[in-house]
Amino acid sequence: MRHRPPNINRWKGENKIEKKITLSVIKADVGGFVGHSGVHPELVKKACEELDASPLLIDHHVTYVGDDINLILTHELGCNNEDIRRLARNILSACTEVAKKLKLCGAGQDLLSDAFAGNIKGLGPGVAEMEIEERKSETVIILMADKTGAGAWNLPLYKIFADPFNTTGLIIDPNMHCGFNFEVYDLVEKKKINFAAPEEIYDMLVFIGAPGRFVIKHVYHRGTGEIAAVSSAQPLYRVAGRYVGKDDPVCIVRCQTGYPSLGEVLEAFSHPHLVAGWLRGSHIGPLLPVEVKDAHPVRFDGPPRVIALGFQLAGGKLVGPQDMFADPAFDNARQVALDIADYMRRMGPFEPHRLHLDEMEYTTMPQVMRKLKDRFIDLPEDRETGT
Ligand code: 13P
Ligand code: MG
Ligand code: MG
Repeated sequence: MRHRPPNINRWKGENKIEKKITLSVIKADVGGFVGHSGVHPELVKKACEELDASPLLIDHHVTYVGDDINLILTHELGCNNEDIRRLARNILSACTEVAKKLKLCGAGQDLLSDAFAGNIKGLGPGVAEMEIEERKSETVIILMADKTGAGAWNLPLYKIFADPFNTTGLIIDPNMHCGFNFEVYDLVEKKKINFAAPEEIYDMLVFIGAPGRFVIKHVYHRGTGEIAAVSSAQPLYRVAGRYVGKDDPVCIVRCQTGYPSLGEVLEAFSHPHLVAGWLRGSHIGPLLPVEVKDAHPVRFDGPPRVIALGFQLAGGKLVGPQDMFADPAFDNARQVALDIADYMRRMGPFEPHRLHLDEMEYTTMPQVMRKLKDRFIDLPEDRETGT
């Protein structure tokens, strides 16, 4: 176990010694109940028991969205810590054993290379984590989604941290008026780039408007340089000539006092935007904001959905959660999402409801093409153009 020396609290130039707290959200699909719609209570129980027994953590909370189990952990070991990663992997492996016993759907999907994944195989758990000096009051929201990819956070993160029509604080809060820096990953070329908002939003939107490839990883406060948000975006892997990536992403957002207010973060989900994922990871659909009790995507294995849990951190203790979308004020957003889902579903296997050929997680095109190749005959030449 590697312990870090305590850091000096720089927030107000005070001379007191303050420990840094790390908030890690580590998630995986280790088996669906039923199908790819939910997490079996035995898996949640197993994860809680294992976490209770760990001496590494300050606190933890286990939740789920769809068939993804999410471990929310606080500790003092920093980001990318081997012990924390090993702990999470061991717990998710223990949950996989339970899932195998219960013969759950795609048991070990994200951990085992031989598990039926439905879309992506064995790429390991998804992770979003930030190391922070707790403010006097440290409000965080953890966003968790199922049936979509990390690019699903691009539009809401842009709205939260760069759009004054969503976030009035960008205009009227003196601690936010300086704007935010966005770190964007190119998941294909495995590169990253920083954009300063508001000056560079036109350049940035060229990239983040293509969320299948360019994904917001971190957002930083421009005044303090402190972390404001982190997503679970990770580079894509090239498997059998195709790019595949971890799906069903998470994102941590800090709120209040120099950051967007809780309401400004959640407001970004009041207009359900279209995301890639849904059934077989191969369709476009609306991102439906739901409370945890409704986090079971069943209609056509969807529509893709997002939950938001709010916590106050107190010395690393997770005070909460509050289920942020358990609010009738989101009923209209839900209705809009359901209407969009109806509209999109009527297109059946046609693009743009079904993803473009290049973006499909898997396809029968090569086999069908091979079978029918002799039946394709050349078109006659066009006499007018010579083509
Ligand atoms: P998950 O990625 O949530 O397991 O969904 C797989 C799928 O194919 C659903 O139709
Ligand atoms: Mg699954
Ligand atoms: Mg899932």
